[in-house]
This record gives sequence, C-alpha cells and structure tokens, in this order.
Amino acid sequence: VPLQSYNTFGIVAKARALVRIRQAQDLLSLAGIIQEQKQQAGLAPGKRLAPDLEPLVLGGGSNIVLTGDVPRLVLKMEIPGLRLMEENEAGWLVEAGAGERWHDLVRWTIEQDMPGLENMALIPGTVGAAPVQNIGAYGVELQDRLHSLDAVDLWTGRPFSLTAAQCAFGYRDSVFKHRPAGGPGPQEGDIDPATAGLGLSGRAVITRVRLWLPKPWQPVLDYLDLQRRMEQTGIQRPSPRQVFDWVVDIRRHKLPDPAVLGNAGSFFKNPTVTPEQCQDIIAREPRIVHYPMADGSFKLAAGWLIDACGWKGKMVGHAGVYEKQALVLVNLGQGEQGATGGEVMTLAKAIQTSVYERYGIRLEPEPVVV
Ligand code: EPU
Repeated sequence: VPLQSYNTFGIVAKARALVRIRQAQDLLSLAGIIQEQKQQAGLAPGKRLAPDLEPLVLGGGSNIVLTGDVPRLVLKMEIPGLRLMEENEAGWLVEAGAGERWHDLVRWTIEQDMPGLENMALIPGTVGAAPVQNIGAYGVELQDRLHSLDAVDLWTGRPFSLTAAQCAFGYRDSVFKHRPAGGPGPQEGDIDPATAGLGLSGRAVITRVRLWLPKPWQPVLDYLDLQRRMEQTGIQRPSPRQVFDWVVDIRRHKLPDPAVLGNAGSFFKNPTVTPEQCQDIIAREPRIVHYPMADGSFKLAAGWLIDACGWKGKMVGHAGVYEKQALVLVNLGQGEQGATGGEVMTLAKAIQTSVYERYGIRLEPEPVVV
C-alpha cells in the first residue's frame, strides 16, 4: 500500500498492508491475529512481538518520518465523533473519536462557545495522536486539558481507560512514546496497562479522548507572539474566537502548509539546560532565546540555535531547512522527485552535529522515525 498520501512529509514508501479502524471493536479482532503471530513466532502471550511485526498506528501522519518501506501492518485510525458529554458550573467535558482531525475539534468547541483549546488551533494531526506526543502551542499543552482517554490493549484485546496522570505526560512525551519493558514478563492477563508504567508504544491504541474545558475561561496570552498581537491591535481582553484567529494567523505565517510543502512540524525538541549551561551560552551569544522553567532549568529555542549555525535554506538532496523557521525540515520536491527519509535523516544528523560542535547541546528529534 503506498503511504505517500498518509504522511505529511510526502515521503514515498509502501506498507505491507493497511487497515482502516472505524470503531474500537475493529481492534479487538486484530488483537486475536497478533496472538496468532506470537504463537507462530514461538512467543509466550505476554511477550512482545519483534518491533518489525508490531502494527504501526497512524493518525494524520504529521509526526512521522518514513525511512523506508514499512514491512508491518498499518492501522489507519478513523474513529469519528465529537460530542459534549457533560456541562456544569465548573466546565465542559467533551469527547472526540481518535480519527477526528485535531483542528476540527478545536474549531467545533470554539463554534459551540466552549473555549479552552484556542491556543492549540491548527496543529496538524488527529485527536488520537494528540496525547502521544502531548501536543502544545502558545503556552497550552494537551496535558493541561486532557481529562481521560480510552484505548485498546493489543496484547490482550481488552479496552481500558487512562486518566491524564496515568499518561505520564512530559514535554512532547507520554507513556505512548515508550516501548514496553522487554525481557521475561508476567503473563499477559496479569499486565494492567494502566499501571504498566512507562511503555505502551506498540501495545496501546487510543480510540477516544476526553477533554475538560474549565469555567470561567481564562485566556493564556503569555507567549511573545500573542503579546505582539495585543499590542498591534490594542485588544487587551481578546475573546476565545480572537485568540483562535490570532493563533491560526501566526501559524500560517511561520509554518509551512503540509499540503503545499511536505513537513512534520518542529523536527527537534527545544532542549533543556542547567542554569550554568545557560549562563555559559549567554556569555557567548547574548541574544539566545531562552525561557526559565518551573524547576529552575532553562529551555532554549532549538530553532534559534539551528538558525545561528546558518542552516536556514540549506539542503540535502530534496530535504531542506525551512527558510522562515529553522526548526522545520521540509520536502522540497514531490513524489519520486521528492525527499527520501534517508535524506531527511542525513540533514537532521548534520544539523545535530553542527549544533553540538558549536554549543555542546544535543538536539533530540521530535517526530517518530520509522
Ligand atoms: N527562532 C529563530 N530562528 C528560527 C526559528 C526560531 O531565531 O529559525 C526563534 C524565534 O524568533 C523565537 C524562538 O526561536 O524567539 C522560538 O520560536 P517559535 O516561537 O517559532 O517556537 P518554537 O520554539 O520554534 C515551539 C513548538 C511548536 C509550537 C511553537 C509555539 C517545539 C519543538 N515546537 O516552536 O510546536 O507551535 O513553539 O508554541 O516545542 C511542533 O511541536 O511540531 C510545533 C510546531
């Protein structure tokens, strides 16, 4: 199955097979097939499959880099549904199917006068993918709004739910990004995914997500780009719709539209450094963009570091560094004439090396490399 139209980088690759998942029930039968595969491979039910036999779960394909054909079964998540589950004086509880586009959910809540997601407008990808990397933008992260989610355990074929705390969210990180512990484990039936600790990648498939939007609404306007909009327009108390429009506009100016120029959003995470490291770098680069974190450390703007190393507009084959935002790698061609995953990764490694040599900082890729 060609995957080019299923990844926003537009990389050409094929999967062994692709199954569209329209309801949680579809995953239950799949769990049976996985158990058969384990038997054929001589594995106990509680042991995990070799990584190349595990299904690949795909939402909008906006956070992956395909470095070759995928000899695995691809699960294309298409579970629909947007609904208000509950409203009381403290807030709104909304539920969305994993296959809904994230931005459609944000727009729907704004249209229904249920504010709280406006800072995360226009983030590409699906609702089910949002918790995996704990999406975030302009001062709000998914973990600030997630109430709970439903998933199916592919190891046992059982549905289960997790609270936000059980998702072990971090900056662009969650339990869904980590592999289950390997080695001899307890029998399958004994593993409770809710308490399995870090590691549900390849095991849990998110089917539904519930978000809690608290009342009264409080705008989050600390981010510099939003401060500028307030100054420019003279609007001191923007409505949720106004914040939504600002965020959409800022993103349209800064980030390439994947439909026009293939990309996977930010390619690296913003690195965290100690106060000492931060002082060191400021001494050499007084203009470096840095933010203090709650725990005393500092977050640096990876885009600034890459920009300072002169990478904007540079290319490897058809993979390039976006001219307006150095943190975004783009596919400068299309289809067979476009970038390969290998070119993207070669470019990424060259960037990592140059930032490390100049600043002693290791940049970590943000998308999932398959
Ligand atoms: N900067 C430069 N040169 C560049 C790029 C950035 O000097 O080429 C500077 C900017 O001027 C700014 C600072 O670096 O002062 C930060 O840039 P920006 O505001 O564009 O945000 P970012 O840190 O690059 C992060 C997220 C984005 C998110 C925005 C807004 C990560 C890895 N990226 O980008 O998320 O939309 O903040 O909140 O945390 C994503 O994860 O895919 C993503 C797009």
